[in-house]
Amino acid sequence: MTFTEEIKRRRTFAIIAHPDAGKTTLTEKLLLFGGAIQTAGAVKSNKIKKSTTSDFMEIEKQRGISVSTSVMAFDYKNYKVNILDTPGHEDFAEDTYRTLSAVDSVIMVIDCVKGVEPQTRKLLEVCRMRNTPVIVFINKLDREGQNAFDLLDEIEKELKIKVRPMTWPIGIGKSFKGVYNLTQSSLNLFEGDNKTTLGETITIKDINDPLIDKRVGSDFATQLREDVDLIDGVYDELNVQKYLDGQISPVFFGSAVNNFGIHELLDCFVEIAPFPKERDTDNGIIAPENPKFSGFIFKIHANLDPKHRDRIAFLRICSGKFERNKYYFNVREKKELRFSNPTAFMAQQKSVIDEAFPGDVIGLYDAGNFKIGDSLTEGASFQFKGIPSFSPELFRYVTNMDPMKTKQLQKGLEQLTDEGVAQLFTKKVDGRKVIGTVGALQFEVIQHRLKSEYNASASFDQINLYKALWISSTDKKKLDAFMQDRNAHIAFDKEERPVFLAESPWLLQMAQEKFPDIQFHLKSEF
Ligand code: G4P
Repeated sequence: MTFTEEIKRRRTFAIIAHPDAGKTTLTEKLLLFGGAIQTAGAVKSNKIKKSTTSDFMEIEKQRGISVSTSVMAFDYKNYKVNILDTPGHEDFAEDTYRTLSAVDSVIMVIDCVKGVEPQTRKLLEVCRMRNTPVIVFINKLDREGQNAFDLLDEIEKELKIKVRPMTWPIGIGKSFKGVYNLTQSSLNLFEGDNKTTLGETITIKDINDPLIDKRVGSDFATQLREDVDLIDGVYDELNVQKYLDGQISPVFFGSAVNNFGIHELLDCFVEIAPFPKERDTDNGIIAPENPKFSGFIFKIHANLDPKHRDRIAFLRICSGKFERNKYYFNVREKKELRFSNPTAFMAQQKSVIDEAFPGDVIGLYDAGNFKIGDSLTEGASFQFKGIPSFSPELFRYVTNMDPMKTKQLQKGLEQLTDEGVAQLFTKKVDGRKVIGTVGALQFEVIQHRLKSEYNASASFDQINLYKALWISSTDKKKLDAFMQDRNAHIAFDKEERPVFLAESPWLLQMAQEKFPDIQFHLKSEF
């Protein structure tokens, strides 16, 4: 196979959903259809369940699961499918954001009973920011859900995207019979009453074929014909280019737990979903066909064994071919690195690989050389864009509780924040450390991991903060003057970039009004 063919057969994507909509189930079914796993139940949910165990124990368990489910790759037809897992808890929204920087498209799962939910909304906003192509899978059609047209309306209105149904449900809940394939004139029906046995695909001449009446009864056949008439009148044909530009989303209906509608989804997905495309760097665009290797780190996992400090850094390959044992260049550290055990993930199986192509995600064993967002190249000095830090939502002062373990605490905080668990700011005026997170759970995680992995103990004390905003100005003198004026409210992030710590929206507004030449940014990339 040529290099270009290798690129074109790759489909790297994530499944996103509000918790409980069926992301894990759908992932598992795709792996089953792709032949990557043999039995259901093999993929563990990465949801953090509220149970009798405390949250951080649950998180530790999830960390174990999420290493194995970080990437699930399989071959289907002639395609290489890479599914990247996203965390199941909203406190880890930033992890999800970073993972979405490493995919080329997404499949969004919506529960037909619940419709659009808060996490669905947030995740789709992220996709829209990047114009990521989205395919929608409406799940749980075996339940008494909302009317299909109402659901589509809700999706269009709430998520502000245009949709185009590709399949259409016949009945819903108890009366759910199966789906009609709108593009291929075929029916997929359940056999028997138990909604678990798939029938074979029935090819029909067109929507008026009396075979439909025979198989689903004339009431359902009439309803289907009316629905299809309406669909053709209301929704435009699928324009694949518009889908690739993130302007229209094809929609499939089904029931993941019952294997229903998955084949249609997967077949259409591999056909229309994008292969790896060019990416933006601080030194121009890099095309995947560029023969020189490049990629970036979007996720770092500490090893679960506390005796070993090594970690796995997940690298998304953007151009060229990655080869084992070759020297590559960590642009930030200006350091040559060689990897003797790069790991690929074929579903549950980890294996050492000799080469990997654009679109692939591989795990690199790392003794602390990487930070999230790092670029790795064949020698060129550029950084991939699109993996910024966001202003955290919650802030705490870190106080060292054991003066004998200052170094350990320092190291622990450095490494945990390198992994992207939280952000670390150092106040200009007194050097105090401030930790910022998206959710409250992270403080528990940090405290627990500092103790168990670094033998350090810290307390997190209240600090009254609304936002941490990166500041810039075209006039360096003005920036210095601002930093002098607001001395007590200035901190530096880990990259030594200056940040304004705003205690309230009002104080931020005051600063903006008084210093019009200063730009305040909610993310570190601007
Ligand atoms: P998530 O990863 O998006 O959080 O969802 P997950 O797949 O774990 O599914 C959440 C629940 O919804 C699971 O039930 C799962 O079995 C169920 N489910 C998934 N697809 C369908 C479907 O098509 N129809 C119906 N009726 N249910 C579906 P659970 O009771 O939480 O877990 P389990 O004990 O069944 O595993």
